[in-house]
Amino acid sequence: MRNANRQLKLKSRPVGLAGPDNFEESIAPIRQPGDGEVLLETVYLSVDPAMRVWLKEDPGYVPPVEIGDVMRAGGIARVIDSKIEGLQTGDFVAARVGWQSHPTLDAQGLHKLDLDLGSVEDWIGPLGTTALTAWFGMREVGAIASGETVLVSGAAGGVGQVAGQVAKLEGCRVVGIAGGAAKCAFIADELRFDAAIDYKSEADLTDAIANVCPEGVDVYFDNVGGPTLDAALANIRLNGRVVICGRISQTAADELYGVKNVGLLIGKRIRMQGFIVSDYQDRYDEARRWLSDKLKAGDIKQRLHILDGLEKAPEGLTMLFEGTTTGKLAVKVSD
Ligand SMILES: NC(=O)c1ccc[n+]([C@@H]2O[C@H](COP(=O)([O-])OP(=O)(O)OC[C@H]3O[C@@H](n4cnc5c(N)ncnc54)[C@H](OP(=O)(O)O)[C@@H]3O)[C@@H](O)[C@H]2O)c1
Repeated sequence: MRNANRQLKLKSRPVGLAGPDNFEESIAPIRQPGDGEVLLETVYLSVDPAMRVWLKEDPGYVPPVEIGDVMRAGGIARVIDSKIEGLQTGDFVAARVGWQSHPTLDAQGLHKLDLDLGSVEDWIGPLGTTALTAWFGMREVGAIASGETVLVSGAAGGVGQVAGQVAKLEGCRVVGIAGGAAKCAFIADELRFDAAIDYKSEADLTDAIANVCPEGVDVYFDNVGGPTLDAALANIRLNGRVVICGRISQTAADELYGVKNVGLLIGKRIRMQGFIVSDYQDRYDEARRWLSDKLKAGDIKQRLHILDGLEKAPEGLTMLFEGTTTGKLAVKVSD
């Protein structure tokens, strides 16, 4: 459609899982860029568990999305027309595009893609924000060291896949927790994790972790929270670290799970720390260069889970919480 900016706006606040019922599509005219602005065509949208949080609460680092607003989202876009110095028609940028086909944005938050580092697809996957989250979370917050045992939950997901591979490349023994035999086979066979635990088939996750980590866990990278965090805490060694990256099991829960094993932090001198990837934005180039080198050498892989069409974005948000995605979830909006 010419001169049409397709948009998906928040219609209602979700109870439980968020999905298609919470959004409505509308068409706005494409707005030509003024000085200091750029007109973009969205190519990929990233779909992230944090979006469910933005629909409801104030997570402390961005305000919630208001009813009637275009859904907030990061993504990759092609420059159609630019009134920003240094950006030309045809360039690709990473930007806070939102769930829309043709955003007109100012320079804030725009990053021109260096396609020497990787392809446009790589920039949504192993060079994108989820990969940076894994890199900084594992290395800076987890402070991993060669020879340590590292446990990762959500291990077949966007962050988890890269987190485990970063730890492997740093000489750690890596155990992943994921839901289902297929995801476990993927992380063990294709990503070369040392062991995989299917939390959906284990009667006692604490015992299952102890069986594959008999000497305990030095670093636990937590993407899911809830009972998995408790099971991991029971297995952490003296002076261990717990990286609180996310807690998807609790994000849409009606009733929050009360973590019981926090007391172990005292005697075992465990450091448990949360972080937001943008804490490290001054160092994104350093991380991307590292990831790009490993990608080109074939030492890092990332499976992408791509849905086709802007209208699929709300369904994607549901899928993340149902566990029906494997790898970094993105929506392809245009070629
Ligand atoms: N701190 C930061 O700056 C930052 C930045 C980005 C992402 N994050 C967090 O990182 C985590 C992973 O994000 P992602 O984008 O890579 O998503 P993802 O892991 O690709 O997708 C979500 C996965 O979570 C698992 N899951 C869903 N419900 C679950 C439950 N009740 N219990 C256990 N696992 C469950 C599912 O895998 P299974 O089938 O294996 O259950 C699902 O496929 C999220 O918690 C996200 O909020 C944090």
